[in-house]
Amino acid sequence: MSKKRALSGIKPTGFPHIGNYAGMLLPMLELSRDTKFDVNIFIADYHSLNDANARKNLGGLSLELAATLLALGFDPKGCTFYRQSDVPETFELTSFLTNFTPKGLMNRSHAYKAARESNRNLKKLIFGQDVSSITDFKILLETKGLSGSFSEKDIIGLIDLIEDADIGINMGLYNYPILMSADILLFDADVVPVGRDQRQHIEIARDIATSVNAFYGADVLKLPEGIISADTMEIPGIDGRKMSKSYGNQLPIFAEPAEVEKLVKRIKTDSKLPAEPKDEDNLLLKFHKAMATAEEHAAFRARFLPGGMGYGDAKKEVIAAHEAKFGKAREEYKRLMADPAYVNSVLAMGAQKARDIAVPVLKRVRKAAGFN
Ligand code: TRP
Repeated sequence: MSKKRALSGIKPTGFPHIGNYAGMLLPMLELSRDTKFDVNIFIADYHSLNDANARKNLGGLSLELAATLLALGFDPKGCTFYRQSDVPETFELTSFLTNFTPKGLMNRSHAYKAARESNRNLKKLIFGQDVSSITDFKILLETKGLSGSFSEKDIIGLIDLIEDADIGINMGLYNYPILMSADILLFDADVVPVGRDQRQHIEIARDIATSVNAFYGADVLKLPEGIISADTMEIPGIDGRKMSKSYGNQLPIFAEPAEVEKLVKRIKTDSKLPAEPKDEDNLLLKFHKAMATAEEHAAFRARFLPGGMGYGDAKKEVIAAHEAKFGKAREEYKRLMADPAYVNSVLAMGAQKARDIAVPVLKRVRKAAGFN
């Protein structure tokens, strides 16, 4: 029986956090130890290009991420471990796929919609009100004593600017789901383990592949299945909101013990006394579950939930679980970062293995399209 190919990627934007670990890294590590699967894991550096901050130091961030994944236990001999930009075929397939992607599908992409929404919120913040007509705007200028400073034409131009919810959104962000579809389809992936926030992207990849296949009347591209990990749904940030760099509420996997202690102490709790029973949806339970073994977690629950353990003591256990889970890997990470030549040699080997898979798939697409 031939093996199933599992594929997933992670963007180099800084240290992965516990949410990334539970959502994608752990499921992928488990698949990489399962002989029924061929695992492709990659550093999605092309995906970070749309982010002006990450773009400044992509080489460095990619190296750190490579060392992180190796330290966590991905075996570069047992799986295909590569950096996306070592497979430039990705960009050819992306361009090809754009022609089979309805623009409206991209308009509905969650990431793009969220960027527009944040532009709208920003504008409300700047103007202190919803400015949506020339009259609104003229009144606003008058109240600020600025009405003399702008011509009618200037005002129309400004209104256009204000109404443009796409300000600051580049085409890389807009086309992101097509790039991600290319990552997946270029490798004939059977399954794609991802966190819940990526579910829509997998659906888009399936939609695009279906359009290509329907157009050529052949199985040019393989339709992938998403594996959406249930656990990711349960790991918020330390303040209870979605774990996200922009909220500064992440718990990084390789944080130093002092930093972990500081962050865990900030995890939001209610004001229950030690003796009181605790709520099932307590954040400390979620963090503990993400890091401890199943047995350790069951024991912790049994002591924590009925009452008798205070939040201070529970936090100590969360801190210990973090160290037990990631302490050794963090030290291995430091060792790898001191040997970039080794990490680069692993990436070079991965690039070769990845292209051995991707090049024939792209050939198949080119042939279907009538390119020779
Ligand atoms: N978009 C994913 C994320 O932000 C990363 C990613 C890029 C990915 N390409 C992929 C995941 C292909 C799975 C398959 O987390």
